[in-house]
Parts: sequence; structure tokens; C-alpha cells
Amino acid sequence: MAVYLVTGAAGFIGANYVHFLLEREPEAQVVAVDYIGFAGNLANLDPVIDRITFEKADIADLEVMEALYRRHRPDYVVNFAAESHNDRAILGPSAFMRSNALGAQVMAECSRLVPVRSHVHVSTIEVYGELPAGQKWFTERSPLNAKTPYSAAKAAGDQMVRAYMATYPEMNIRMTHCANNFGPYQLPEKLIPLGVTNVLRGRKIPVYGDGLQSRDWLHVLDHCDAVHQVLHADLGPIPKEAATDPGLLPIFDISARHEVTNIDIARFVVHELGLDPAEWIEHIEDRPNHDRRYVINPEKLERELGWRPSRQFDTEMAATVRWYAANTGWWEQILADKGELGFDWSRVALEGQARPVSTQ
Ligand SMILES: NC(=O)c1ccc[n+]([C@@H]2O[C@H](COP(=O)([O-])OP(=O)(O)OC[C@H]3O[C@@H](n4cnc5c(N)ncnc54)[C@H](O)[C@@H]3O)[C@@H](O)[C@H]2O)c1
Repeated sequence: MAVYLVTGAAGFIGANYVHFLLEREPEAQVVAVDYIGFAGNLANLDPVIDRITFEKADIADLEVMEALYRRHRPDYVVNFAAESHNDRAILGPSAFMRSNALGAQVMAECSRLVPVRSHVHVSTIEVYGELPAGQKWFTERSPLNAKTPYSAAKAAGDQMVRAYMATYPEMNIRMTHCANNFGPYQLPEKLIPLGVTNVLRGRKIPVYGDGLQSRDWLHVLDHCDAVHQVLHADLGPIPKEAATDPGLLPIFDISARHEVTNIDIARFVVHELGLDPAEWIEHIEDRPNHDRRYVINPEKLERELGWRPSRQFDTEMAATVRWYAANTGWWEQILADKGELGFDWSRVALEGQARPVSTQ
């Protein structure tokens, strides 16, 4: 049976991927790797913990990761591990550079030293930066133009992975850039779970600025399905022309073509909880350097691999809100361990550090 090594497996998307993988391939051997950083939560793997091997390890540590590869001999590798919380990256960029840039290179290097059948480096729409006015969307040919510490560190990792693609074409290393994900097991610092958990505790949903920041949303399991297809695709050799045309590299942008503003996401959450959005949303100071809009075009993935999202936005958003409402024990434990999540940027200038939002 195939051995899958999945990093960032105790985070939001990595955990969903492990669940998805064991549904899709019940016999798969899964080695789940995570160093349990700020967003890591072993409880995300509780439903499958008896069916996987969990390894607590830092993907940026070459010696540790190479030994782990030699021990488990993975056939397939999916690297989801990253520091991913934009607000925290503003307060402390260094951990982001280590995981997202050095970590991406170390993972690629391990797959070179201990060859695997294929390796997917999971990246984000945010490496393309903010969509210029008048431009419809980003594609795999768009220049990397990251401007936040999180996305710049991801872009640095992407550049390294592109270098591995070009330098070691026999490696079968691929990359994806995905739009914003929603679904279960997301840390309640992000908009949707923050919104649900706040309202359920009688607090308003804090929305940055005017809330008109626009994002491209898809359900996390549609993302997992796309990554799995990219991992297993028979892509053939990388053409010479890819040296000057990144559209020909094994890079795939993932989106369900569903753009929604942050304020509409907050309204959806309140409405789904049976309350009046006018009474349960408050606008707070925007975070510095907040990207206004990004949208990505999945046409290459659709055309070359036949991928399509299979989940409908409204239905899955409603199910997601209900999941957080039903799984209070899951998020109450996180809040007990980490304290209040969310940021009040109006206090940063005064105190030099963001404090949790209090929105009574
Ligand atoms: N959340 C989204 O909407 C989204 C969209 C597109 C792409 N992505 C990408 O998907 C991946 C997963 O995102 P997520 O939302 O699940 O993030 P997350 O923060 O919820 O999970 C990331 C996990 O990686 C682990 N990790 C971080 N650095 C590590 C290291 N050095 N060694 C081992 N483990 C480490 C963390 O402990 C955490 O469990 C990231 O690469 C992110 O850039 C996320």
C-alpha cells in the first residue's frame, strides 16, 4: 500500500486532507507530520489517530526530516506545513520565513535525497499579491508579487520549489496555489470560525475596516481533492519552453470561482445562526497592509486534469457554521489553551503589540 507523508497534518487543511485521504484510500499508510506550532492542534486528527503514524517534527530541520523520510520511505508527499496566520506574521515574520521558505526547500531536498513518486508543494493565491484594478484574475503566469510577511515567505518557498522543478526535472515535484478555504477544523482566529464562536458566546463579529475586502472561496475538501489529483496526475516531462513560461511548469491554480466580501461572509454566519446581522457585526480598525482583492483562475487545472469543485458554496457554508456550533468542545479547548483569538490593531501603535479583540 502507498505511503503518504503529509506535513502540517494537525492544521486546518492538512487535517482535512488526512481525513479525505483515508476516506478515498482506506488502506493508505499515512505519516502525519506537524511540529504543533501556534495553529497546530492534534485534536484535529482525533477521528483518525488510530489509523495514522503521527510524527512531531519541524520541516525546516533537514537532518530530522531526512531521517524521517529514510524511516518511512514515502511514495507520495504533500507539504501543507506553513505558518499561515497573516496577523501573526506582522508581529513576528521570522517563524514564517523558517517554515514557509526554508521548510519548503528542506522538504524538496528530502524528496530529492530519498526519491518519491511525486511531491506536491501547497501554496496560496496570496503569493500573487493584490489584484490590480481592471485585471480579472491571476493565473499561473502571473508574476509573484507578495507584499505581506506571510505571503512573501510563501513566495520565497515557491521560488525554491520552481528552482527544484527546473534543476531536477526527474523529481516529479508539483505546486498548487489555492484560493481561500472554508470548512471544519479551522483555528477560530480566522473569519468564519471566529465569527461563529464569538456569536455563540454573545459577542459581535469583528470585521476589519469596511469589510469590502474580497476573497475567492472554496470548500476545503474541494481543495483536498484538487491536491490529490495533482499529486497523482501523469504530467509528462517539463518542456524546455517552461524556462521562460511558468504557465508550462507543473503549477496549478485552484478556485471554485466564487468571490465574496468579508462583510458578506460575516452576514452569512450571523444569518445562519438565526440572528440579525445589523446587531452582531462591528467594524474595527483594519490590519496594516491588508490585500484588498484576489481572485484566481482554475482553467489550467480544469482543462489539463478535468478537476471541478463538487461542493456548492451556500450549502457548505451553512454546514460549516453548523459544524462549529455543534463542536463547541473542540473550540472551547482551543480558547482555553490559547486565550482569546483575534486582533485589535487600534492598540498596536500604542502598546507595540496586538491584543485580543474584546467585542462585548
Ligand atoms: N487556509 C487557506 O485558506 C489557504 C489557502 C491556500 C493555501 N493555503 C496553504 O495551505 C497550507 C495549510 O494552510 P492551513 O490553513 O491549514 O494552515 P494552518 O496554520 O491551519 O496549519 C498549518 C500547520 O502547519 C504546521 N507547521 C507550521 N510550520 C511547521 C514546521 N516548520 N514544521 C512542521 N509543521 C509546521 C502548523 O503547526 C499547523 O498545524 C499552507 O501552506 C497555506 O499556505 C491555505
